[in-house]
Amino acid sequence: MQTATPEVTIIVPTFNEGPNVAPLVDRLSTALAGRRAEIVFADDSTDETPAEIERVAAATGSIDVRMIHRAEPLGGLSGAVIAGLRAARARVCVVMDGDLQHPPEDVPRLLDRHARGDVDVVVASRYIGDGSSDGLDGLSRTLVSRTTTALTKAMFPLRLRACTDPMTGFFLVDTGALDLEALRPRGFKILLEILARQQLRIGEIPFRFAEREAGGSKASLRQGAHFLAQLAALRFGKMSGFAAIGALGAVANLAIVWALTTVGMHYIWAAVIAAEVTIVANFLLQERFVFRELVDDASGRWSRFAKSFAFNNAEALVRIPMMGLLVETWHISSVLATGITLVVAFVARYAFHALVVYAP
Ligand code: GDD
Ligand code: MN
Repeated sequence: MQTATPEVTIIVPTFNEGPNVAPLVDRLSTALAGRRAEIVFADDSTDETPAEIERVAAATGSIDVRMIHRAEPLGGLSGAVIAGLRAARARVCVVMDGDLQHPPEDVPRLLDRHARGDVDVVVASRYIGDGSSDGLDGLSRTLVSRTTTALTKAMFPLRLRACTDPMTGFFLVDTGALDLEALRPRGFKILLEILARQQLRIGEIPFRFAEREAGGSKASLRQGAHFLAQLAALRFGKMSGFAAIGALGAVANLAIVWALTTVGMHYIWAAVIAAEVTIVANFLLQERFVFRELVDDASGRWSRFAKSFAFNNAEALVRIPMMGLLVETWHISSVLATGITLVVAFVARYAFHALVVYAP
């Protein structure tokens, strides 16, 4: 038993992995000899795995082995990893599978990469250098992995720029840089959750995804559905907040025009005032509710406001002639043309704010 604070906590999510526990602990002890390390099993097993973990923990002298057994497995694999991160005694944590598909011998390379001091996360990637995904059973899983990786990277071009393998379950994270409260765990893809929610500095090492040692994979269609829901929540969570504020603005716009024309103002002036008031109000609401976590400096507010204000005015100026063009050249109805230009404007406005005004 060690008492000093460990340099690293190895977090291993397990679901019915009994036969793999002893070889994993054994290989980790050897690989980490000379370092102060602890292993935390984040276990949701329904079989005798917890008893096996306790047996191995008691029999192992060279490395501290602990277990969190969750009676209620909220958030599945990702939820278990987060429980492990909370229980970790070290600030630096390595997350890896319990079935030896993530070779324990690669852990020192993760630690060495982090020790260079310029990154918060080190990803063990199957897709750089001499890394490989040979352990993925079958062509179909390899294809699925490749396509979902490409799709995910396309959806988070900035956050995942430096990451070739956001779907890997093997990585190091410096918990000092991590906001655990911001995470909404579900399904298998905990690294994606971490990288998509926060701007972290990412490093990578190549690794070879090995064959599973014993037992079968828990990946399933259900996990696939979780993954799609996770992508949607990560990407469109903001977009739907943005849309709700936009809709609120449109209603306010109408109300202002109505009020001003009722007191005798010319409708053009009323429209201009209503547009400017809602542009400003929308900006303030977005700052407060949609892009909150990207707004850590109040000082940048005027510059963000200037960009947002300029874009929205330009967009409003361009939209009307665009509509005219659609009606004249494509001969579509003005209602349809209004609808199309509003949708295009919404997407453009969202993209501009997400990528330029609130560039992470
Ligand atoms: N605590 C807990 N709860 N652990 C779980 C659960 C769960 O609900 N489901 C799976 N695990 C554990 C398994 O026991 C194993 O240690 C690890 O999580 C990975 O599960 P596998 O069933 O072996 O998944 P895989 O090999 O198909 O997926 C691996 O490769 C993916 C990349 O292709 C994992 O590393 C994924 O994290 C990775 O994304
Ligand atoms: Mn596996």
